[in-house]
Formats: sequence, structure tokens, C-alpha cells
Amino acid sequence: MLTGALDLGVTAVDTAYAYFQFRSHETLARVAGDLLPKFSVSTKVGYFPDGHSLDPARLSTAVDEAVRDLGREPEWVLLHNPEHSAPTGDALAEACGMLADAAAAGRCGGWGVSTWDPRPLLGQVNTLPSPGVLMLRCGLLVGPDILDSAELLAKQWQPSSVWGMSPFGGSTATPVWKAFDPRTFLREADSATPVQAALRTAFELPVVDAVALGTDDLGHLKESVSCLTYEVDHAMVRQYRDLLRGRQAD
Ligand SMILES: NC(=O)c1ccc[n+]([C@@H]2O[C@H](COP(=O)([O-])OP(=O)(O)OC[C@H]3O[C@@H](n4cnc5c(N)ncnc54)[C@H](OP(=O)(O)O)[C@@H]3O)[C@@H](O)[C@H]2O)c1
Repeated sequence: MLTGALDLGVTAVDTAYAYFQFRSHETLARVAGDLLPKFSVSTKVGYFPDGHSLDPARLSTAVDEAVRDLGREPEWVLLHNPEHSAPTGDALAEACGMLADAAAAGRCGGWGVSTWDPRPLLGQVNTLPSPGVLMLRCGLLVGPDILDSAELLAKQWQPSSVWGMSPFGGSTATPVWKAFDPRTFLREADSATPVQAALRTAFELPVVDAVALGTDDLGHLKESVSCLTYEVDHAMVRQYRDLLRGRQAD
């Protein structure tokens, strides 16, 4: 997969301290071997075997363990779903400050935040330093509340870059993907597959600079990467957003 990804021009891998029963970093380093330096690695800290925590000391230890297990500093360390600890301004500030310090000390290339539900973070970030990366859910399965909150959070926090995640909501096999044709969101959809159309559209819902998706299949990765050749019908996306807002208002 990693060799094939490089051939396709995919040079970023996203993981988390908690993934793969807390063994994702050591597993990635072992499996990737000499290929690892060819990838930019982003990881996330915040979940521990006993649950979620924003305790700066625990987050700091997790960053150290990530460096140790990867065998090098990750390019990005993101605070993993801070909303899970119902962050007050202080706890969030301390957690972000810890990651910013880690980046300044060279323990990671940069820091950011990954949030599944940005709503509890709104209004809490105005006095905090801007993250390098804000990672948000993206795509056609994201509901209007989360979409609007994601856009507002990005406006309030001014990250250098916004990434999208989970563009298919975790699976392309769920019935919802058979219920409509995402190609309706592309300008010239003739040769696109529905998966490509859904993924290309995910770059606009909300607008993101990059999308992290999951796959175990190199053919799927190739299909997914090719989505970038298609153009989105922005008028259709706007109409969709209006419909979502109307439905929310109802
Ligand atoms: N912060 C959070 O709480 C959170 C939660 C979930 C995910 N994430 C992040 O989101 C990213 C990925 O999310 P995800 O894996 O959950 O969801 P996803 O990318 O929306 O969905 C992954 C699924 O899509 C399928 N797929 C991918 N490309 C395909 C293609 N071309 N054709 C057919 N099926 C295709 C994969 O199946 P195959 O393996 O068969 O290709 C896999 O089952 C990661 O970076 C992860 O860290 C973050």
C-alpha cells in the first residue's frame, strides 16, 4: 500500500496515538521501514487506554511516545477531539499551549486540532494561538449543524490549513451511498465514478485543503486520487447547502 501510494503521489499518512489498540506508531514504523521518511506523518493525541484527557502532562508523554515509536518526530501532532472532555477555555488553552510548546521545541513539526464535533469549541478559541492544522469532518454525510459550526470554528481560529476527514463517513458500503448519485455535484461527470464524485465534493463541504481517507485497497486509492481531475459544480453545492439549511430551519 505504501509503495503504491508513493507511486500515486500520496505522501501523507494520518494516524493517532489511540489507533490500532495504541500500537499504530510502532506498527507503522515497523511496516513502513525505509519508506517512512518519504511520508509526512500526522498523528493525534488525547485518547488514552482509560479514556480521553486534555491533561498537558499526559499529552506531553503521548508526544514523546509517538516520537519514540515512530523513530522520528511526526510532521504534525493534533489534539484529538478535545470536545470529548467538555473543554473549558482553560483546559483547551493549556492543551493547545502544550502542543505549541512541543512544536517550538522541535518534538513535532507543527500542531493542530482534529475535531469530530466542533460545536463545543465555538467561542472558546478567540484568545488561543491559531493551530497549523484544523482537521474537520467533511463530505456529503456531514449534517448542517456540524458543517456550519466547522466553518465558523475555522473563521474564529484562523488555522494555516484546514483538512477534511472521513469523507465517506467511514464506509462506502452503507445504504446511503446507493440512495443518490453524487455525480450530480460535478460539472462533467461522464467518466467519474460515484465514489470519485463523493470524494471530490467532500473538498467543498466544508472547503478544505486536503482530505484524509481510509483504505486497505490500492485500486481504491488510485480511484480516489483521480477524483482531483474533476471540477465541482459550485452552484449545485450552494443549492445543496441552502436545502440543508432550510431543512434544519424546519
Ligand atoms: N477525529 C476523529 O474522531 C476521527 C474519526 C474517524 C476518522 N477520522 C480520520 O478520518 C480519516 C479516514 O476516515 P475513515 O477511514 O473513518 O473514513 P472514510 O475515509 O470516510 O471511509 C473509509 C472507507 O471507505 C472505503 N473507500 C475508500 N476509498 C474507496 C474507493 N475508492 N472505493 C470504494 N471504497 C472506498 C474504504 O474501504 P476499502 O478499504 O475497501 O477501500 C473504507 O472502508 C483518518 O484520517 C482518520 O484519522 C477521525
